[in-house]
Formats: sequence, C-alpha cells, structure tokens
Amino acid sequence: MELFEIVGGNRLKGAIEINGAKNSALPIMAASILVDGETVLRNVPDLADVRQMQVLLSRLGVKAQRDAEGALHLRVEDEMNAHAEYELVSKMRASVCVMGPLLAKRKRAQVSMPGGCAIGSRPIDLHIQGLRALGADFELVNGDVLLRAKKLKGADIFLGGPFGSSVTATANVMMTATLVEGRTVIASAACEPEITDLAEFLNACGARILGHGTPEITVEGVDGLTGTEHTVVADRIEAGTYMIAGAITNGDVELQGARLEHMQAVVDRLRRVGVIIERGEKGITVSSSRHLEPIDVTTQPYPGFPTDLQAQLMALLCLADGNSVITEKIFPDRFLHVGELNRMGAHLRKEGPTVIIEGVKRLVGAQLMASDLRASAALILAGLIAKGTTRIHRIYHIDRGYQHIEKKLAAVGANIRRLNE
Ligand code: UD1
Repeated sequence: MELFEIVGGNRLKGAIEINGAKNSALPIMAASILVDGETVLRNVPDLADVRQMQVLLSRLGVKAQRDAEGALHLRVEDEMNAHAEYELVSKMRASVCVMGPLLAKRKRAQVSMPGGCAIGSRPIDLHIQGLRALGADFELVNGDVLLRAKKLKGADIFLGGPFGSSVTATANVMMTATLVEGRTVIASAACEPEITDLAEFLNACGARILGHGTPEITVEGVDGLTGTEHTVVADRIEAGTYMIAGAITNGDVELQGARLEHMQAVVDRLRRVGVIIERGEKGITVSSSRHLEPIDVTTQPYPGFPTDLQAQLMALLCLADGNSVITEKIFPDRFLHVGELNRMGAHLRKEGPTVIIEGVKRLVGAQLMASDLRASAALILAGLIAKGTTRIHRIYHIDRGYQHIEKKLAAVGANIRRLNE
C-alpha cells in the first residue's frame, strides 16, 4: 500500500490548476445512459472514482473511452443489463446515480443498496420516494433496490429530508423526469453547482429543465435525448482544499480555473479567519495575513458552507488564535479526523455534532491513518505545516477525489512524497 510522507514547514507559492468536479462528472457520466448517440465530456478529472464509474457503466452496456486530448466519450451499446451489483456499488456511493437513468430508459433499475460508510449512515429513502412518485414500483430483493415501471408520469415531488435537500436524490429524480411524460416539479431540490451543471448538460442533450440552481426545479418530459459535448464545471471542493493549503502554510497561491461565485460561504469564512482572497486573472488568488482568527462554522446545503470542506477547515482552525466551533449539520458523525489531528498536538473536543477547537501554536508530525476522502485531505493540510515528518497511511481514499494531489502540492513548494509501505 502507498503512503504520503510530508515534511512540514514550507510556504506554498505558485499556480495550481483546478480540475473538473468529481461530483459533477460522476452523475453526468451516469446520465449518458439516457442519451441516444455520443456524449463527449471535457474536463473530467482523472480519479479512481471516475475509473470506477467507467467500470460500472461498461457493465451496463455503456462504452466509455478517453481520447488523446483526455475528453471522455460515452456511448450506449447494449441496453440489456440494468443491474448495478454490490461489488461495484459498495466501492463508490455515487454509483446510485445510475438508478434514475436506468429506470427512465430501460424501465427497470436494480441497484445494490449502498451501506453505511466511514462518514456515517447514508440512506437513499429520498431517491426511492422521488422515483416512486414518478410511478415506479419498488421492491427490496436480496439487499438490492429494484424499481420497475411500465410507464412513468410527471409529478410534484418534495425532496427535503431531515438534513435538508439531497444532492444525488435531486440528480436521480431530475434525470428520470427528463424522459417522463408530463411535468415534474421538484420542491426542496438541491441547489449545488454540480446539479446546475448536470441540468445544463441534460438541456444541451434536448431536455427541458428550468429552475436548476434554485430549490424548485421544473422538468417537462421529452421523447428522447441526443448526444452533446459538455465541459465539466470546476471542482469547488478541490479549489477550497488548495485555498486552505495556501492559508495554512502562510503561502501565496493562484487557483487557476476556480470559480469564486461557487465558493461564497467558504470565502466568507476564510476571510473572517484572516485569509486574503481575491479574484485573479485566471482564477482565485490566496495569501495569508499570518494571523489566524478563530471562527464559528456550521455546514449546510449549498450555498452554505460545504460538509466536504469541514475537515480541511478544521485543520486550519487548529492554529487559530483562540477557540473555534464547527457544527456538522449534514453528516453529524463525519469527525474521524478529530482523533488523528489530536495526535498531531491539536486540542479538539467533540460534543455530539459539534467540535470545539482550541487553537494551538503548532502541530507536530505523526503517523496517521486516512479514514475517508476529505478527512485524508485535512491530514495532508495539517502535515504541510506540522513540525517534522508526517506519514499518512491508506491514501487510496485521497486518490478517489484529488487528481495528483502530491504533484500539485510539490509543484508549489511542498515537501511531499508518495512512498510504498
Ligand atoms: C453528495 C456529494 C458528497 C457530499 C454530499 C453533501 C456527490 C456524488 N456526493 O452526496 O460529496 O458530501 O452530497 O453535500 O455529489 N439523506 C437522506 N435520505 C436520502 C439521501 C440523503 O436522509 O435518501 C441525507 C444524508 O444522510 C445527509 C443529507 O441527506 O445527511 C445530504 O446527503 P446527500 O446530499 O444525499 O449526499 P449525497 O448526494 O450522497
């Protein structure tokens, strides 16, 4: 197995290219199931999760191949199979995004129920509720969700759950509704930029979606979708991670291709910490005022502060001058990084869905275990500023969502290496 070795203390300086968003690319790849003809996607990041989605799609009869320029070409060649099996779904939750497209196009979707994961329980009741409202019959068969429909019909659907809207449930219902007779109105829809990107892709294929980016999405069903070319939106979570890398090392970085308008909550919180963030010529520039102020943060659905940057922000606040508070309102158990940061000398105390962060003068290098994708990123950020050497094990998590993270960081001055155990 591979690990990262980081010697902390280097200031980061220079430009970092931001890739296309994983959370946009995965549902758009799944949406290719709906399309007659070829889908061409540009700016698809080279990630383990993307390769995993390619494997799943190939089992479902979709040929997916990169061309010499890196664009991903997808084309449905065989519509017989509609079963996403446990072996594939258990490796990646976003596999659930094939459920809506399979149901809409093949009138049948059998998808293994994704279990819990390291960041806590992740139910799919809202997905099923939404697809049933469109007319699907639902059964649970050997741990698989089986949805079938002779005919689907537009409906008014409320997708709010106990933790707000659901991103992939919105994606599933919106994708299905594109090929359903009549009008579907989704209330309490997710407003994430990745949902907007998916809707723009579908509209370019001939779908009729309005209101994406707001909590009410209206879809008028059409008879078919045709192939198109689409460029995936920049990854705001990757950009936010490198923004914090710049801030924590007291660095000076430019995040090329990053979209400031998708990061308002992150920018607001980081500016309050004292990070200097400006719109640059090619993206966003980040520098630090050296002094970090403590803050309070609550994660929320977009446009609130994203749960996918909670761990990384916590790494930064470990070094603030005073006490900060982070409350997790999306995944209340998403705190596996707390114990690892404490092993580096942080003073963190978890109380239910809240962590109190008492700022310390410095972190020290340690042997650490990565537990999930974003927690792994937080440990790397802490390692960048810790005194001495940090070794992070089980880094396969990070390769799921960050393209060449060690190369990008090393190119702007970090001392980080990928080694074999
Ligand atoms: C997506 C993102 C993930 C991010 C998360 C929250 C993708 C591929 N993944 O995941 O990176 O962390 O949004 O921003 O886009 N819930 C229910 N019932 C459901 C579905 C969800 O109660 O049927 C709850 C979840 O447990 C959670 C909240 O709703 O508390 C939000 O989850 P959701 O938006 O669905 O997350 P994902 O779409 O899985």
